[in-house]
Amino acid sequence: MTVIRGGLVVDGTGAPARRADVLVDGDRIAAIGAIPNPPPGAAAIDAAGAVVAPGFIDAHTHDDVAALDGVNMAKLTQGVTTAVVGNCGFSLAPWTPSPARPLPPAPLGILGGPGRFAYPDFVSYLAALGGEGGRPAAVALCGHSSLRALRVEDLGRPASPDELAAMIADLEAALDAGCVGLSAGLAYPAAIASSTDEVTALARAAFRRGGAFAIHLRNEYDGVWDALDEAFAIARAAMPDSPEPGARLVLSHQKCAGPLQRGRASELLERIERASRDIPLAFDAYPYEAGSTLLEAESARASRRVIVTWSDPHPELAGLELTEAAERLGLDEDAALEALKPGGGAYFHMDEADVDAILAHPLCMVGSDGLPADAVPHPRLYGAFPRYFGRMVREKRLLGLEETVRKATSLPAAVFSLGSKGILRVGADADIVVFEPGRYRDRADWREPRRRCEGVRAVLRRGMLESLPVG
Ligand code: ZN
Ligand code: CU
Repeated sequence: MTVIRGGLVVDGTGAPARRADVLVDGDRIAAIGAIPNPPPGAAAIDAAGAVVAPGFIDAHTHDDVAALDGVNMAKLTQGVTTAVVGNCGFSLAPWTPSPARPLPPAPLGILGGPGRFAYPDFVSYLAALGGEGGRPAAVALCGHSSLRALRVEDLGRPASPDELAAMIADLEAALDAGCVGLSAGLAYPAAIASSTDEVTALARAAFRRGGAFAIHLRNEYDGVWDALDEAFAIARAAMPDSPEPGARLVLSHQKCAGPLQRGRASELLERIERASRDIPLAFDAYPYEAGSTLLEAESARASRRVIVTWSDPHPELAGLELTEAAERLGLDEDAALEALKPGGGAYFHMDEADVDAILAHPLCMVGSDGLPADAVPHPRLYGAFPRYFGRMVREKRLLGLEETVRKATSLPAAVFSLGSKGILRVGADADIVVFEPGRYRDRADWREPRRRCEGVRAVLRRGMLESLPVG
């Protein structure tokens, strides 16, 4: 047993914070309140001056591989105890190499090398995730592009009726195995040729089983308005008449990107709010003005600056500005971008005021969207949660403590049907973060993207105290 003593308990529901002790028994919360005489032998954690909250839930990650590799430090050091993996249409399962397709088609390779794709179905992947004494640190979405990679012969066209039937059967098996929904990334090479009908048929299968449908829109720049309409149309057509609580549309990494979209956050939020009147939905965002994805021209054109985050042909240029990389290669920027492919980039294409407005919205979850396999990962991988907290609560005072915590805990728990997580209450999973609200801040930046944050005093996952590196 463990007693967490004297902290300010913020339970994740948005209810007012209150001073209380928390008693943990096994992997569950046993009591919350004054516990002056804890059971003999109980370990004690001093939470005086600190907030005691549910472990944070990262609503949008690409930790499909990282979550398998023992302890996921990028997450734990921030107080994140659950990550949603398999976003943006690419999940590690259920694709494996075959003679017809020996390499993962883009963008699946963002997750890791071809050798990591070893899970032909979600039964095997989720079993691997549950390692470490049955304390899985992630829940998974099944990716539309991964289904396409497995079943669609030519990724340059929509699925045939037979291929689509096979994908639906795979998705249903994934949901039955424990996936929390479907994801799609319609802007990516493996999915851009898919039809709205194909995605609708899959979303319908996900909704029927009470799963979520998370979508990286077909376009995030000037085509974003049509792309939003497509997402709403898919959700409306796919939603059953009396949906299960988990049947929800999730709009991934919402942003106003590029010169013509910057400054339009209120319009974007208004559109989303209007749709939310008839579609159960939520969205996620990260607290940075730069995005990160594959190297490609449209993103570069929309950006003030581009940083190369990895490059297969030129690994030595990772971490440089695209302008510098182009100089070293003796090429103009367009030609350099092509020469660096396959690779990744970080794109400075948003305005801070838009990011703040989106992030502060009551329907917005925190999704780091970190890319752990990148040579020089975007600092959001190690810093998204403390940066979100610092901006909302301390620096800009956009939200109160309780609401800031709610959007990172009970909101994603409800969206992804994680019933035993996201709220501190008796009987719930003992996933708990103890942090100092005045000191909880990100330190990862482009020079040191893997620098851990400060201000987290303790993290318990399923009742076990995690050992965090001193720093
Ligand atoms: Zn995405
Ligand atoms: Cu993503």
